[in-house]
Order: sequence, then structure tokens, then C-alpha cells
Amino acid sequence: MKILISDYDFPDIELEQALYRAAGIEMVAAQCRTEEDVIAASAGCQGLLVQYAPINAKVFKARPEIRIVSRYGAGFDTVNTADAKAHGVWVSNSPDYGVGEVATHALAMTLSLLRHIAFYDRDVKAGKWHFSTAGKMQRVGDMTVGILGLGRIGKRMAHISRNSFKRVIACDPYIIDGDFPAYVERVSKEELFAQADAISLHVPLTDETRGMVNASVLDLMKPGSVLVNTARGAVVNTNDLLAVLDSGRLDGAALDVLPVEPPAADSRIVQHPRVLLSPHAAFYSVVAEKELRRKAAQNLVDWARNGRPSYVVVSGK
Ligand code: NAI
Repeated sequence: MKILISDYDFPDIELEQALYRAAGIEMVAAQCRTEEDVIAASAGCQGLLVQYAPINAKVFKARPEIRIVSRYGAGFDTVNTADAKAHGVWVSNSPDYGVGEVATHALAMTLSLLRHIAFYDRDVKAGKWHFSTAGKMQRVGDMTVGILGLGRIGKRMAHISRNSFKRVIACDPYIIDGDFPAYVERVSKEELFAQADAISLHVPLTDETRGMVNASVLDLMKPGSVLVNTARGAVVNTNDLLAVLDSGRLDGAALDVLPVEPPAADSRIVQHPRVLLSPHAAFYSVVAEKELRRKAAQNLVDWARNGRPSYVVVSGK
């Protein structure tokens, strides 16, 4: 068996090399950006381990010997699952390596916005020393936090938020009432956006969620509320978000993910004074990075040994 690591932004791939050496699997690595790059680099490969490279029918048609794709990460929107299904290719991911990291990052961003931490830091360094420099602030203990997408990360976010906020509400049409913890109130999408003082997004990027946080819901948000996105950049319509920030309705937004990563340094979203950014880092801790890499790489070893990966997104043939 031979596999290709199509692309990676880790400092090295020694962990993967050791795992595949021990399993007797040949490994090659590249830094592919396009389908064409992947096709060129994957000659003779049955498996792909991918980070951001796009994988779809183009790749599967050109390389029918590819039988499995494993993604470094919980999200798998860079892999076209319908195309994989049509070509009988397994798709797998690594969904549970960094649930705590992402939820903690989301809560840290939420509290940083509500307590104006990043704004104060900027003001103090610019020589301004007064509690009022960043505007009016309300009491977090009186507030409602709203969660869109109550899956693994959303549930953890609810759990670690509940002692800071008065109320936790969530919208997730795809889970049953029994999957809502007792301390989380189930609401509709419109109720979520109208009632929450802070909204944290935890939905996957799908055809349905692409651009779902647009003017139609942002305009429902309470004056002075905040939005946090650690899910995927394309879930939010950036122009609509900028409009609602400029209007003064939103007090701030914190974004770990953007529609185009990295963003242009002079883009409006990067320059906006009420936007707090991190570089798609919510997943990161030393331990989580290792677990992510080990689990994503192991999917291919499991498939070679047992005919199926440990984490199945699409069942192949
Ligand atoms: P999950 O699959 O456990 O949960 C997603 C939840 O969203 C599910 O319960 C699903 O029913 C719900 N959902 C789907 N469509 C919805 C809709 N239209 N409205 C409301 N809810 C909807 O996924 P998990 O592990 O919680 O991860 C969520 C996302 O977080 C991933 O898909 C990924 O894109 C992102 N992520 C970001 C990271 C980062 O470093 N910034 C790291 C890890 C994940």
C-alpha cells in the first residue's frame, strides 16, 4: 500500500512517517494546493491524507486507484463527499481530538469580546488608560449565550459556558430533545439570534450552512450583542457582518476562521476595530495537534488492515 500526504501545515511529518513505517505502508508527501497538484503527486496511491487540498471527482476520475481519503480535522468540507460516494471512495476524519480546545477557544473569544479585553489591550498600548475607552459594558452574569449547532463542540461550549451566563440556548434541528442537556433551552434559529447576547457558531460547513449567518439573522441580533465563529468562515456572510458591525448594532465579532485563509492584511475584516481574530487556531494545543495527526493517519492503517477506517464519514466499496 502507498499513500500521499497531500498537504500539511505542521512543522514536520515525523509522527506520520513513524506510524506508516511500522505498518509497512509506503508514504510520500507534497504541498498540493489544487486538484491537479494532488493528481500529479498521487501516482500509485490507494490512500490520501489531506489537510486543505480540494478533493473531488476530478481527482477520483484521474486516479481511480484511490480508495480512501482521511482528513486532518473534524470538518471535511474540503472533500466532496457526494463525489466520493459516487466513486465508492471511503472518507474519514478525526472528529474528537480537540473538542475541548475549540470550545475553550470559543468561550475565551466570547468573554474577551464581552469584557472588551482585546480592545482595552489595544487602547492601553496606545496610551489610553480608562475603563470607558472601549464603550459600555453589561454584566455577563445577566446574559444569554446562544449556540448554533449542538454537536460535540457546541455541547462542550454549552457545558463550560453555563456558569458564566444566566441562560444557555441552542438551535440544532438535527438532534433529538434528549440530546439537549437539561441546562440548555432548545430554540429556533430566529429565537437564537433574537434572544442571545453572545452567539457562538458550531455548525459544519454544508450546502445548507454556507452563508446562513447573513443579514436575515444578523439584523435580529440584540443591540450590543457579539458573534463568535470558530466553525468555518463561509458560514458567515462577511459583508453582512461588516454592515451590522458598522451600524453599531453588534458590539464586536471574534473570528478564528475566515472564508479565505489567510486573509489579505488590508482587508476590511482584518482592519475592523471591533473584530478580534485568531489564525484558525481553535483546535490547537500541543497534545491536540499530536492526537489529530495520529488519528487522521491511523484511519489509513485501519483501512489497510481491516477494510474500514476508525472514523467513517462516507462508507466506500
Ligand atoms: P458535530 O458534527 O459533532 O456537530 C455539528 C452539529 O451541527 C450537529 O449536531 C448538527 O446537527 C448541527 N447542524 C448541522 N446543520 C445545522 C444547521 N443548519 N443548524 C443548526 N445546527 C446544525 O461537529 P463538531 O465536532 O462539533 O464540529 C463542528 C465544526 O467545527 C466542524 O464541522 C468544523 O468545521 C469546526 N471545527 C473548527 C476547528 C477550528 O480549529 N476552528 C476545529 C474543529 C472543528
